[in-house]
Amino acid sequence: MPLDKISYDELPYTCSPMPYAHPDNLAKVATQAGMTPPLVKTSRVLELGCCDGSHIIAVASSLPETDCWGVDLSAENIATGQATIKALALKNITLKQMNILEIELQFGIFDYIIAHGIYSWVSSEVQTKILSICKNHLAPNGVAYVSYDTKPGWFMRSTLRDMMRYHNSVAQTTHQLKDLVAFFADATAKTKTAYGKFANEVINQFRQLPASFVFKNLLEEDNEPLYFYEFMQRAQAQGLSYLGDALYPPTPIIPALHQDLIYQEQMMDLVHNRHFRHTCLCHSHI
Ligand SMILES: C[S@@+](CC[C@H](N)C(=O)[O-])C[C@H]1O[C@@H](n2cnc3c(N)ncnc32)[C@H](O)[C@@H]1O
Repeated sequence: MPLDKISYDELPYTCSPMPYAHPDNLAKVATQAGMTPPLVKTSRVLELGCCDGSHIIAVASSLPETDCWGVDLSAENIATGQATIKALALKNITLKQMNILEIELQFGIFDYIIAHGIYSWVSSEVQTKILSICKNHLAPNGVAYVSYDTKPGWFMRSTLRDMMRYHNSVAQTTHQLKDLVAFFADATAKTKTAYGKFANEVINQFRQLPASFVFKNLLEEDNEPLYFYEFMQRAQAQGLSYLGDALYPPTPIIPALHQDLIYQEQMMDLVHNRHFRHTCLCHSHI
């Protein structure tokens, strides 16, 4: 089987809780942006693509009065999460094995909606659905969080990905991902060019990560890094506005160029070669 067809059930993704995507932090971002977010303590929280529940279970456990929900396509992930919930005797969390595309209005309204590590790795149909859920299932003053791969930082990663996918299509091997990454790391380290140095730095970042993460990033068929402003155009088309980033502090203003916040942030991504974003959104009317 070609590597890019392997599902999450065959190579489970290594998931972990993400403090920056905890409702406490999302509420902080919203408050800093001048909004009054829902009370975290008793909120309803939804995670899309929750994997084995590593994050949403941690949220439920830390906030026992919340009503937490997680959905994921992988039956294996959900079974693992349900076993954890049972072992912890948590009563305020539900994990459901389902496709995001099947979420309908009856699913209800949530104060905080989290979609981490999924948007860039799904079809455009699922991407549109993620943003429409962030709009149609979000409480009036709720906060939605969507993370995604961004350009320009992803350009170098895309080169590495192209190398991997080309190798895979030609050699049809299924067990050499680590060897291949090691080969590129050694080969680029030996070059004396600025490109070699840059490529080597990015490859070595990948080498520190779990195999499932490297696999998803470098071989998964669906992969769409996009500029921050492109993501925001899609979010705005759904009636959502930018609140701030959940991980990075507000970026410095460049007053001489333009006053628009989206423009300012995009310029800073270009300056810093940023490759990932954790965007917090709210309803546009707010
Ligand atoms: C790369 S993992 C990220 C998991 C987790 N959010 C994290 O960042 O640690 C993406 C997850 O999304 C799930 N997924 C992908 N497409 C999906 C869909 N259409 N509906 C529901 N879940 C989906 C996968 O099963 C997988 O667990």
